[in-house]
Amino acid sequence: MTSQGGLRGWTLITGASRGLGREFARIAAAEGRDLILAARRGPEMEKLADELRARHKIAVEVIATDLSNPDEVELLWRRAATRRRIDILVNNAGLSRYGPFSDEDFTREDQSVRVNVLALTILMKRAVPHMLAAGGGRILNVASVSGFAPGPGMAVYHATKAYVLSLSEAVAEELRGTSVTITAFCPGATATGFAKGAGMEGTRLFAQGRLPAAAKVARAGWRAMLAGRRIRMTSLRGRFFTLLPRLVPRAFMPRITALFLK
Ligand SMILES: NC(=O)c1ccc[n+]([C@@H]2O[C@H](COP(=O)([O-])OP(=O)(O)OC[C@H]3O[C@@H](n4cnc5c(N)ncnc54)[C@H](OP(=O)(O)O)[C@@H]3O)[C@@H](O)[C@H]2O)c1
Repeated sequence: MTSQGGLRGWTLITGASRGLGREFARIAAAEGRDLILAARRGPEMEKLADELRARHKIAVEVIATDLSNPDEVELLWRRAATRRRIDILVNNAGLSRYGPFSDEDFTREDQSVRVNVLALTILMKRAVPHMLAAGGGRILNVASVSGFAPGPGMAVYHATKAYVLSLSEAVAEELRGTSVTITAFCPGATATGFAKGAGMEGTRLFAQGRLPAAAKVARAGWRAMLAGRRIRMTSLRGRFFTLLPRLVPRAFMPRITALFLK
């Protein structure tokens, strides 16, 4: 355990089996924090847990769970927070599907609403009163630059991330003056399994050359969360994109986003 950032309890990280979530786990472990890792792939998380326990002498619990099921999300919180203080929650698990909204198959979009929106909301809903009662905490919600504009070709995903941004900013304001903070983290395209999972590796956005490494991106989000910042973008390009909706007429914005998503 550690006193870094004045936080001494456990850190719960969703989507910790790979990508940004695995990097958040590595960063937290290097600070000496005890961890609860949650995602569906237990074996990947067990391997990571073994590595982190051995290297950093911390406690790590692995909870294999499907966050698209709200009952499992409630159960995850109960298992994580019963007789334990969670003072950092990283709501990182998320997914997307690339393709026209008119496709009839709804499986992956349904999953993305459940994981990106519902699971995140349930965990925040449980964590905020828990942290207030315990005297403090930090919540890192992984949103995206996608949350700043509609995304033709990824309509549901962009809408889920707009929700995460809006929810995070509203609750952060409600919590002003308390010792609990909410950070909406908004990375741009990052080198993880995300694009492959969504079926969008060939888009301009992801085929643009070298993408930033997950470890570097995660460090930026982690620092912003510890500092209690409300929003954090990761790249200049991302910052520029988030300014565009203020500069161009609203009706043009989906056309601009569509160019990146081709
Ligand atoms: N990579 C990017 O370009 C990018 C850009 C902006 C924002 N983001 C956001 O960053 C976050 C992390 O994504 P990533 O880039 O690290 O992608 P990733 O490598 O695909 O990792 C996604 C994580 O979410 C977990 N997950 C997905 N569905 C789940 C479910 N039903 N139940 C439990 N866990 C589930 C996965 O674990 P299991 O498969 O083991 O369940 C995995 O650990 C997401 O919220 C994403 O929207 C990514």
